Amino acid sequence: DVGMSDATYRHIPPTSETIQTKPFPIRGERANYVNSPHVIAMVGLPARGKTYISKKLSRYLNWIGINTKVFNLGEYRRHVTDAYKSHEFFRAENQQAMAIRTKCCIDALHDVCAWLECGGEVAVFDATNSTTDRRVLIHDIVVKKLGFKLFFVESICDDPQIVEQNIMEVKVNSPDYTNIPKDMALSDFLLRIEHYKERYEPLEEEEEAHLSFMKIYNTGEKVLVHKHEGHIQSRIVYYLMNIHIVPRTIYIARHGESTHNLQGRIGGDAELSERGQVFSDALANYIHEQNISGLRVWTSWLKRTIQTVAKIPAPQERWKALNEIDAGICEEMTYEEIKEKYPEDFTARDQAKFTYRYPRGESYEDLVARLEPVIMELERQGNVLVVSHQAVIRCLLAYLLDKSADELPYLHVPLHTIIKLTPVAYGCKVDYIPFDIEAVDTHRPKPKIPGTLEEKFVKNCLSN
Ligand code: ATP
Ligand code: F6P
Repeated sequence: DVGMSDATYRHIPPTSETIQTKPFPIRGERANYVNSPHVIAMVGLPARGKTYISKKLSRYLNWIGINTKVFNLGEYRRHVTDAYKSHEFFRAENQQAMAIRTKCCIDALHDVCAWLECGGEVAVFDATNSTTDRRVLIHDIVVKKLGFKLFFVESICDDPQIVEQNIMEVKVNSPDYTNIPKDMALSDFLLRIEHYKERYEPLEEEEEAHLSFMKIYNTGEKVLVHKHEGHIQSRIVYYLMNIHIVPRTIYIARHGESTHNLQGRIGGDAELSERGQVFSDALANYIHEQNISGLRVWTSWLKRTIQTVAKIPAPQERWKALNEIDAGICEEMTYEEIKEKYPEDFTARDQAKFTYRYPRGESYEDLVARLEPVIMELERQGNVLVVSHQAVIRCLLAYLLDKSADELPYLHVPLHTIIKLTPVAYGCKVDYIPFDIEAVDTHRPKPKIPGTLEEKFVKNCLSN
């Protein structure tokens, strides 16, 4: 039994020598450019958080505007072998399976490179890449032939409790173990790790001195960085040094309704309305009832957020970076007034809301840049309540929930609602908890642009 179904078995080349792959074009000279595309190659035994790190890193890089995509080798393997039977597949002596694994690796690298050739900026190659031979193969293709930059990220974890917890959290639910009881999946996965351990060669500063890499020990207890190059790698190192996996909850809420909200005015530094004040009291009660350990409260510098948290008995910090988007010459106007006074700006914003910058003010894109330190600190923290504003919270949610720049400016962030985010598996679980306190709706949906296919279709239907 080689751990594969018979159906797949017949299509497998017997040894790695017979593997047929397309040649890679040779463009090595590109490696010298600062902004060359990057391949981030993960390294480590199974269940060491490589997929977790890959997805999280990709979410962060996309959010700061660097076009990033993850290529997971497990998915390539599952694509060619339609049924995983057991850990036997991963035995080092299992030559047929090894041939499939090498072929999948080369196929995935082809896709990585094709994607970078077409404008991708960072490709995260999520595989174990646990031998020097495999890393030589990757380096030859990515750096020598294609001239992309290459950075290895190794996760090392020798805490058996964390490994078992990781397996129970994500691996037992993997498509490899559909209909397999969880305890059997756990034992099989532990044996799979043993097969990898037989051949595992951690990154070595001396033997692989020419490579750029970082090593993360025991979920960030210690970090080693070797020959990192350029600003993208620096940002990756900095980000990965700040993340942790200790369970916690992030609570996010807008300030209570303000007097400006009541009048439909944007921006400014207005006080809470009466209903906003009621929300502030209710929020303090809610937080008190939850009895959240070590809670920290963050607000902007604007009166409406500070008033909203006034009765919450927890350490509070003010962030200028959490202030609402600066609407420049449109500050304190209503949308109707803006439409009348600055019709061209009003239309321009509707056409490209993420990048549109208010004259003498900000765009959503600017907000993301100003919020990066907040996100970095948020990653380091435990339980936090962030009380901020509609546009700012949209940016935070886009990061936490992996939303695109197109969706971001239209995310719903109603007043008098707590948004509760709990990390689960590779992402965040989100709960909206509305309070029964009336408030105006400040959400302005994306208007239909006249002349679009959608608009013509609707018109057509109506006239028929
Ligand atoms: P495989 O090689 O089988 O794909 P993997 O290394 O990709 O395994 P993940 O699927 O990412 O492992 O494991 C997810 C779990 O890893 C999550 O429960 C997460 O909390 C945990 N985790 C995240 N970062 C680390 C880390 N640096 N070290 C160990 N575990 C981590
Ligand atoms: O209306 C409340 C508010 O927080 C304004 O201060 C801000 O300009 C606006 O929401 C942001 O929302 P949008 O980007 O949809 O105009």
